[in-house]
Amino acid sequence: MLATAAKAGLFLAVVLFLSGCTNWPEFSKRVENPYPGDVAAVARGKTLYLSQGCSVCHGEKGKGDGTEAASLPTRLPDFTSRDQMITRADPDLFWAIVRGREKTKMPAFGKQLSENKIWDLVNYLRSLYQ
Ligand code: HEC
Repeated sequence: MLATAAKAGLFLAVVLFLSGCTNWPEFSKRVENPYPGDVAAVARGKTLYLSQGCSVCHGEKGKGDGTEAASLPTRLPDFTSRDQMITRADPDLFWAIVRGREKTKMPAFGKQLSENKIWDLVNYLRSLYQ
């Protein structure tokens, strides 16, 4: 009887743990920008932004007007728009780059770029609007 209760308890704990991990908003809150606004990070992010081909879609200045933009089925965000960007938290941008955006052309970069590089990109994007 006790053993059954213990098993049920363990099962519940595992379920709660797993649902906690896959609960997207909770999960996304757990990452934190390690160096917000850092000038060196912004510079590294700019180099990555150009070398990783982000500009091909997002545009050289991040306005959403890259050479591929017109042929994409979805509209691109404007990284230079303060109004648009303040509605996104740093972890939102981070996870968009890590995982990409399903059902859109936004690729996932989590396999080829380290976490720090992705934060460099986030900090660069943050520097594009006043
Ligand atoms: C092939 C085109 C393409 C490339 C290359 C690309 N993106 Fe995107 N990106 C998109 C599209 C399309 C969206 C919009 C997805 C949506 O509607 O949710 C997007 C969305 C995003 C977002 C989410 C913005 C928001 O609205 O919250 C971020 C951040 C982002 N891209 C960063 C990058 C970075 C950094 C790179 C390069 C490492 C990159 N993207 C490369 C097409 C691209």
